[in-house]
This record gives sequence, structure tokens and C-alpha cells, in this order.
Amino acid sequence: MKKTDISTIYKNKDLLGKNLSACGWIKSLRSSKNIGFIDLSDGTSCKTLQVIFKDKLENFDKICHLNISSSVSVTGVLVETPLAKQPFELLAQTITVNGESTPDYPLQKKRHSLNYLRTMSHLRCRTNTFSSVFRIRSVASYGIHKFLQNEGFNYIHTPIITESDAEGAGEVFSVTTLNFNDIPKTPEGEVDFSEDFFGKHAMLTVSGQLQAECMAMALSKVYTFGPTFRAENSNTQRHSAEFWMLEPEIAFANLNDVIELSSRLIKYVINFTLESCKYDLEFLNKTYDEELISRLEKTIDEDFKIITYTEAIDLLLKSGHNFEYEIEWGKDLQTEHEKYLSQVVFKNPIFVIDYPKEIKAFYMRQNDDGKTVAATDMLFPSIGEMIGGSQREERIDVLTNRIKELKLKEENYWRYLDLRRYGTIVHSGFGLGFERLIMYLTSLTNIRDVIPFPRTVKNAEF
Ligand code: 4AD
Ligand code: MG
Repeated sequence: MKKTDISTIYKNKDLLGKNLSACGWIKSLRSSKNIGFIDLSDGTSCKTLQVIFKDKLENFDKICHLNISSSVSVTGVLVETPLAKQPFELLAQTITVNGESTPDYPLQKKRHSLNYLRTMSHLRCRTNTFSSVFRIRSVASYGIHKFLQNEGFNYIHTPIITESDAEGAGEVFSVTTLNFNDIPKTPEGEVDFSEDFFGKHAMLTVSGQLQAECMAMALSKVYTFGPTFRAENSNTQRHSAEFWMLEPEIAFANLNDVIELSSRLIKYVINFTLESCKYDLEFLNKTYDEELISRLEKTIDEDFKIITYTEAIDLLLKSGHNFEYEIEWGKDLQTEHEKYLSQVVFKNPIFVIDYPKEIKAFYMRQNDDGKTVAATDMLFPSIGEMIGGSQREERIDVLTNRIKELKLKEENYWRYLDLRRYGTIVHSGFGLGFERLIMYLTSLTNIRDVIPFPRTVKNAEF
């Protein structure tokens, strides 16, 4: 008999009274002399299916002694149980054991700390918490595609291996096949990358933006959504070395247009997740943060405030709050400042715009004041920056001067400058840190818990 997903059983009332087959892993099992109960999970829902089995099963004894996480296939009748905790149960006619487990299965029924579970990335996805998080991750990802496709965006694929450090911050991982025990050197004593696989210094991308800009100059509205890599040596709860970034890029659009688009995107994805992952969110709300759902609903309902960087600095200076990092016009906002503004002052996500050009990337469009750029960061309560975006410098002379001022190698940017040579146009885009969105959607506070196999400083296990 074909397997019916447990999620389907919960959605489909017509299945009551019917014969069906459910398969999954045993979450818990208790039995007495002639009857037993199994909590069965197949990961399609955070709800489990209660299976009842009786001693008329020929393998009754064997089933009674199964360990947690054994995999079984059950056939039987789905019966309504109006008086019990769960709405129905599967009355087993046969139970086939697919794969037994052992008593030393590391994730026994007691509650484990997230810290401990991080050491078990291959098994933690079976727990209630992580299966909920990864279902939400899947739905949020689908929501992003759905929203942007409906808006007429083209999904483009930007390279993972590249020669450009798009953000110019030098936080890159090199990609090489050079022999570390015999590294070829130039007469000047530098590494001779001409002998390397790509014939030059190649790295893992920190952002697909520069390539996305090329594609936007052809297709108008594009987005890239894939893994990005940063060798930031910051061991924090919100940085990972490998993370997923969504980067929409839009021709004929200014900073206000990307603020408007990202606001609608955020609201759409939250709403889509609330609708599609009701049980998972209820579970996380109950287990980790009882304000999770109400906070998400508030984020959908209220307009996001927009303040300038200068106003943000004033608010922080006037707050009287004792911050660890100094607040001064010209210095970058630290996570503690970002959280304070969104969480304490505005109690909702906000946009901060017009940052000093010195603390932002070379490609951002300079404002008329000569000091600031048309950039925005979207800050979220308890997370800080989730989105970084800007209007791009479309004026070739201003851009070339900026590249020179920052002593970047002009020859590395000829393609990028070509875009300004051949039909330049006002254009803008942003990057959304997908893990940070998942942290907001789940209320989990450590980025290591929202990506299945996290890569952080000193950790690339499995
Ligand atoms: O602000 P960032 O550095 O912007 C860019 O890379 C632009 N090129 C994006 C664009 O305009 N197309 O990064 C964008 C977002 C941040 O706001 C943050 O959410 C996330 O990416 N991010 C990280 N997430 C996890 N771990 C890290 N190490 C991250 N670095 C950035
Ligand atoms: Mg940023």
C-alpha cells in the first residue's frame, strides 16, 4: 500500500475510517501485556501519529521491544478518538520493521540543550525543534521565490567561484589547487597564481551582486539566491562562514523602490510562513518564545519606520543607555545599537538610510551632501541587520573616482564600469541574510541552529 504522509492525514478528514499505510520513525513507545502505543513521526508535520497495536499482531513482542528511532511501516485503519488528546489514531493491522535502532540512540526522549544537539548535526534534524525549523526554512525559501516570481523577477544563478571580492572587505576564502607544500612564487616572492587552476587568484563569492547587476541591465528585474561565503573571524550568534543570501537587483529603481519592495517581501514571507507552518510556529511559540507569533503578526500589520543614520546616532546618544561600543557620527552601528533601535525604540523592524560613505561599499550611490550614500540597512528586533541594500552608483565618473579613492584595482572592475558605459540607468538592490530571516521566524537566537550543517570559525564538521 502507498505511504500516506502524516501531514496529509492531518489535513484530510476523508481518511477517517479508511485503510492506509503510514511510515516513520518511532518517537516514543509504551506497551503492556496485550496493547501498545507508538508515537510515529515522518517529518512531514510536527504532529505525530498515534499508532495502536494489539497482541493479535504476530510480531507483537518484537514491536514492544523496539527502541526509539526505529523505522517502521504500519498499515491499519484510521479511527477517530473524540475523547483523547489526539484527534485520531491508526489501529495497526501490520507493522513492518524497516530498520531497528539501539538503546544508545543519542537523542532519547528527554529534552536536550541546543548546545548538545549542535554536536549531532546528522541526527538533530529528527527532533521537534529542528524539524520545525527546517520545514520553516523550506517554506520561507519557497515564499521568497513565489513573491518575486509573482512580481515578474527572473531567478538568475550567479557564480560561486569568482575573482571579485564584491564587498571589498577582504573577508574571502581562496579556491586553489596549488600544492601547499610547494607553492609557486613569482620573482617578487608572491604566490604565483598563474600556475593555479584558474590562472589567477579565485575565491568563494561573498555576494552575487556585481553579476546580478549585469543581468539586471539586461532583464530589468532579477534575483540571485544561493550560498555565500565570508571568512569573517567573528564568532557571534549571527555570523556564519557559509550562509544563504537573497539578492534582488532592479533596473530603473531607486532606494525608495527597494525599501518598498523589501517591506512587501518581508510581510509576504512572514504571512506565507504563518499560514503554511501553523503547527510548527505554535510549537516554537510554546517552547522558546511566547511572543513569537504576536511579533510576527505585528510585523505584518504595522508600517516600517524609515530613519536616517544621522537620526539613529542622535537617538542612540540621547537614549542614556550604556552601550559597550562608542556612538559617534561616522562609526558603523554595532549589533547592540541596531537591536536597541529596532527592539527598544521602535519595537518593530526599521530602515536606516543614508550612511556615511566611509563605512559602506564602493558601489553605493553618493548623495548630494558628499558625505553619505543612498544605502539602507533593515534592522530587526533581537537580530539587528537582516537586509543591506543601496542605490548603485550609475555615474561612471563618480564611480571611477571612488574606486581610485579607495585604491581598488581599476582593471578588476572594467566589466562593472562597462555597465555604466553602455546605457547606464538608476538601479538598486539589496541582500537579505536568509538565516537571519529564519532566526526571526523561529525565535532561535543562534545562527548555528537555523542552517542544517553550520560552518563557523573552527567548525566545518561533516
Ligand atoms: O550587508 P551585506 O554585506 O550586503 C551585501 O553583500 C550586498 N552585496 C547585498 C546587495 O546589495 N546585493 O550582506 C547582506 C546581508 C546582511 O544584511 C546579513 O543579513 C547577511 O547578508 N550577512 C550574513 N549572514 C550570516 N553570516 C554572515 N557572516 C553574514 N554577512 C552578511
Ligand atoms: Mg551590511
